[in-house]
Amino acid sequence: MIKGIINLPGDKSISHRVLILASISKGKSTIHNLSSSEDVKRTINILKKCGTQIIKNPNGSTTIIGNQSFQSETKRFYCGNSGSTARFMLGFLPSKGISGTLYGDKSLSKRPMDRVIEPLKKMGLHINSKSTTLPVSFQASSINTYSHILKVPSAQVKTALILASLSSKEAISIKDQFNTRDHTERLIEYLGYRDKESSKFIPEKFNYTVAGDISSAAFLISASILIPRSKLIIEKLLYNKTRIGYINILKKMGAHIRIYNKRIKYNEPICDIEVNYTERLKGITLYPDDIISMIDEIPIFALVASYAHGKSKVIDGAELRHKESDRIKAIIHNLQKFNVNIKETTNGFIINGPNKLHNTTISDFNDHRIAMMCVIAKLAITGEIVKTDQLSSLISISFPEFYKLIKKIYV
Ligand code: S3P
Repeated sequence: MIKGIINLPGDKSISHRVLILASISKGKSTIHNLSSSEDVKRTINILKKCGTQIIKNPNGSTTIIGNQSFQSETKRFYCGNSGSTARFMLGFLPSKGISGTLYGDKSLSKRPMDRVIEPLKKMGLHINSKSTTLPVSFQASSINTYSHILKVPSAQVKTALILASLSSKEAISIKDQFNTRDHTERLIEYLGYRDKESSKFIPEKFNYTVAGDISSAAFLISASILIPRSKLIIEKLLYNKTRIGYINILKKMGAHIRIYNKRIKYNEPICDIEVNYTERLKGITLYPDDIISMIDEIPIFALVASYAHGKSKVIDGAELRHKESDRIKAIIHNLQKFNVNIKETTNGFIINGPNKLHNTTISDFNDHRIAMMCVIAKLAITGEIVKTDQLSSLISISFPEFYKLIKKIYV
C-alpha cells in the first residue's frame, strides 16, 4: 500500500516562468523549491549562456542575479526534450537582443513550432525558419504593436507571446479563449504588472517558493486510489483551477479525495490533499475543456479509467498527438498490452471497464509521462517497482524524485 505525508518538488511549468522573470528583474532573486527536472535545467542553461548568473545554494534554494544586458557567445541553444524551453525562448531570446538557433532532441524536433513562429513573426520577430519544427533560427528584433487570439489551446504559445511583449514599447494584446494555464499572467501580476495588455516590464528582485507539482502528484495520487489500503497526504500542492482538471475528474469518478487548507501563496492557489484507496470508480467522458486543464494527466487518467466501471471516453484530444509522443497511440498500445479493452477514435479513445490488467513489458515511446503511467500500472498489478536506467533517465525529464518518493511511500 501507499502510506505517507509528503511535499513535492516545485511545479515544472511555474519553475520555467519564475527563472525567466527573475533573469530580467533588477537585482538578486531567491527561489525555493524550484523543479530539479531536466526540462527546467535546459531553461537554466540557456539563461546562463546569455549571461545570467544562477547559483544553487547549499540550502537547496536558487539565486538568480537579474541580467540587464543579455549577450551570448554561443549561437546554438539546446532545449533537450523541453517544449516549454523551446517555445518560451523563441519569444524571449530575440526580444532580449539575442540571435541564434534553438534545437532539441529527437522527440522535440518533431513537435510543431509553427503555432508559435507564426504569431511571433506577426509581432515583428525575425524568425528565419521555413520549417515548422526545430531547429529554428532567429535574430535580435524589436516588436510591433499586435493583438492575437490563440488558435490552439497552448499555454506555451501564450507564454512565448507574453514574454516577447514584456520587451515591447507598444501594447500587445493576447486573448486566450481556451483558459489554458495562467501561471505567466499570475506571476507578472505578483511582480507588480498591472496593465491588461502586455508591454515593457522590468520586475524588481523577488523571493518565491514554487508550489508542489500537480502533474507529478497525479501519478502518486492515482497509485493511492488503485492500491488497496493506501492513504497519502500531499502538502503545499498547486491548486490552480487551470491545472486541477484531473482532481475534479477523479472526484466525479468517485475517488476518495479530500482537499483542505486551501490558500493563496505567491498569487497561486495551493492546498493540502488526502487521497484514499477507492474500491469502486465510475467511468467518465472527458470533453475538450476538461482535457485542457489536465492535458499532461491523460496517460495516468487512462490507467485509472481502465479500472473504472462502465465506459470512459476522451473526445477530441487532438493536442495529445503533439506531446513528447503521440500520446493517444502510446496509451492505447500500452493499455492493450496490459489487457485493457481500449479503442482508438478520431483524436481520442474509449475504454470499457472494469478491466483485469495483466503484467507485461513497458513500451515507453521515449515519453516520461508514458513511462511513469506504465510503472504505476505495474506497481498496481504486481506490487513491484520497475526501475531501469532508461526509465530513470526518461522520468527525470519531469520528475527526478519519482523513484525515491515511491520507495519511501510504498510499504
Ligand atoms: C505547459 C503547457 C502545456 C503542457 C506542458 C507545459 C506550460 O503544453 O503540456 O507540459 O508550461 O505552459 P501546451 O501549451 O503545448 O499545451
